[in-house]
Amino acid sequence: MSRILITYFGTYGTTEKFAKDIQELTNGDLFELVPKASYDKDPAHYNELASLAKKERDEDARPEIKELPDVSKYDYIFIGYPMWWYTYPQIIRTFIENVDLKGKTIIPFNTHEGSGDGGTYKELQEALPDSKVLIGLPIRGENIKNYDQLGNIKEWLDALKIM
Ligand SMILES: Cc1cc2nc3c(=O)[nH]c(=O)nc-3n(C[C@H](O)[C@H](O)[C@H](O)COP(=O)(O)O)c2cc1C
Repeated sequence: MSRILITYFGTYGTTEKFAKDIQELTNGDLFELVPKASYDKDPAHYNELASLAKKERDEDARPEIKELPDVSKYDYIFIGYPMWWYTYPQIIRTFIENVDLKGKTIIPFNTHEGSGDGGTYKELQEALPDSKVLIGLPIRGENIKNYDQLGNIKEWLDALKIM
């Protein structure tokens, strides 16, 4: 059984595509972090999502997750998310606080429109002192949507030496 779990959250399919590329290259198991209260995925309602996300960040909210994965059988756990207001979506905080990641190797990845990883990889390591957070990969959403990223992703995965 695979020791690699790829967890991700996103609303418009960009981070999901990135996660699926990682799955194709690693043969890991894929797990979407689905919020109990779903976000409006209609791009026409972007402003509403932006306000809600900002409110959640400002209030340091912990949006509930429908179902948590059983992380016990995995050694390597990828965590993927879009940048939301210069940090990771609050649901990522819910996730890392509610599963036992002690002793696990964490590999972050994210999509964005200019912020890169916005310091979130460092923030993850600080939030998870008992896990080892490896070098993550930020990719611009536009690049994920318009170009094949498998080559870039493979290069990053090879450098991590986890397989
Ligand atoms: C609420 C919200 C806040 C965002 N904040 C940022 C940001 O601070 N920096 C940035 O580079 N991109 C930001 N973006 C752009 C997203 O990170 C980017 O479009 C991402 O690829 C969306 O991923 P998804 O399709 O998986 O939801 C934001 C998008 C949304 C919806």
